[in-house]
Amino acid sequence: MTMSSVPLSTSSPASLPVRTIPGSYGWPLLGPISDRLDYFWFQGPNNFFSKRIEKHKSTVFRTNVPPCFPFFIGVNPNVVAVLDVKSFSHLFDMEIVEKSNVLVGDFMPSVVYTGDMRVCAYLDTSEPKHTQIKNFSLDILKRSSKTWVPTLVNELNTMFGTFESDLSKSNSASLLPTIQKFLFNFFSLTLLGADPSASPEIADSGYSMLDAWLAIQLAPTVSIGVLQPLEEIFIHSFSYPFFLVKGGYEKLIQFVKKEAKEVLNRAQTEFQLTEQEAVHNLLFILGFNAFGGFTIFLPTLLGNLGDEKNAELQEKLRKEVREKIGVNTENLSFESVKEMELVQSFVYESLRLSPPVPSQYARARKDFKLSSHDSAYEIKKGEILCGYQPLVMRDPKVFDEPEKFVLERFTKEKGKELLNYLFWSNGPQTGRPTESNKQCAAKDVVTLTASLIVAYIFQKYDSVSFSSGSLTSVKKAS
Ligand code: HEM
Repeated sequence: MTMSSVPLSTSSPASLPVRTIPGSYGWPLLGPISDRLDYFWFQGPNNFFSKRIEKHKSTVFRTNVPPCFPFFIGVNPNVVAVLDVKSFSHLFDMEIVEKSNVLVGDFMPSVVYTGDMRVCAYLDTSEPKHTQIKNFSLDILKRSSKTWVPTLVNELNTMFGTFESDLSKSNSASLLPTIQKFLFNFFSLTLLGADPSASPEIADSGYSMLDAWLAIQLAPTVSIGVLQPLEEIFIHSFSYPFFLVKGGYEKLIQFVKKEAKEVLNRAQTEFQLTEQEAVHNLLFILGFNAFGGFTIFLPTLLGNLGDEKNAELQEKLRKEVREKIGVNTENLSFESVKEMELVQSFVYESLRLSPPVPSQYARARKDFKLSSHDSAYEIKKGEILCGYQPLVMRDPKVFDEPEKFVLERFTKEKGKELLNYLFWSNGPQTGRPTESNKQCAAKDVVTLTASLIVAYIFQKYDSVSFSSGSLTSVKKAS
């Protein structure tokens, strides 16, 4: 089957045979713990899901996902995995699923991390508060679009200045700390209208305060590569208490209150949020959504530019950038990168092969029939669906040579059609984030910003070399 004949509609065509969902949850306690050890230790998330697809001969099956026993009592580990493009797309249909408190599964980090309230990402579309905050986040992006590109170029100048100076002292420049400072400054300036340099402590360590706050909330659900069984015992068995990161979080709150006054005011006057709701949601958008998302995405994006071995890919990108806007970074704009088909395709392909938020969850709002490419399955109200995007985005029925990085994949007519099946933002790349869905508010801003960064690099440099999380050389534009 070709991709254009894959219908995205979530209605179940009568022609599909109804099949009992294969797989089981095993014995109480033992089933979940054995699945958890497979997931984190013996198999890893990728093999965990792909081995079960093989075993059940189905992309839809029952399994447990962590966290679970012994200390996560009350967390339901039972899910129905949806691992092809068609079954996964049910996660976006807000008529049949709800998204209350399922951002990272049935487990929800304590609300003490977010000022004792459920922030936007945990709210369902049926909750009026979701409408208010989603619209607030869309408004922030719209307003900041005026200063977005010049601020980006300024901050990129600083970041690449640091890289170049690191490279002059040693033969590699480590990416992550410099990238995180860049992201923290850039998003504080654009989303909050707040300048970190107004507070030396925040300018210096705001990003590491966010790191600690993110790590402690997400620890029970992510693999971090600590020697096993230590990771299972010390990272995945219980939640660490908030007081460990409380000091940093409170300093960030003070920074938002003091430096983001205008945005906070608008939240209250135009979106009827309380000051508390505005502050904690803003910090979540800044820290979790924007900073967290790009901390994962940007190193992958740069890594995909590769080294000398990728000369051909870099040459093609450089050619397109220089043809459209030359080497003057003042020519960078949203409009100009929208004209760069190859640069955008590079960004889309990076998001396809390494979706920064790999797992998505939703709970059935009612009983419904879920369809995969070849079968239909009965889902009962309340059951949790779990999609693991790295496999979904390699669905061979939709993507030719799914494992391969194909620079041109998202170009021309066929490429545009494929954007219907690019799901990194919890919705298709052709969709529109609104108050009525749970698609990333920054669906377009993320891909355009990534395209701007790639274009900036090829305006400034003839070639760059990235390897294992470091920048190893740059050749300035001749
Ligand atoms: C590479 C960067 C980013 C990635 C990978 C990303 C990914 C996502 C994903 C997957 C979701 C849906 C989560 C779920 O419900 O399962 C989401 C939601 C959201 N994102 Fe992003 N995001 C990124 C950057 C941003 C930025 C820069 C903003 C700034 C405004 C943002 C704002 C939001 C908001 C407000 C939501 C909640 C939407 C809702 O509840 O309806 N994201 N993001």
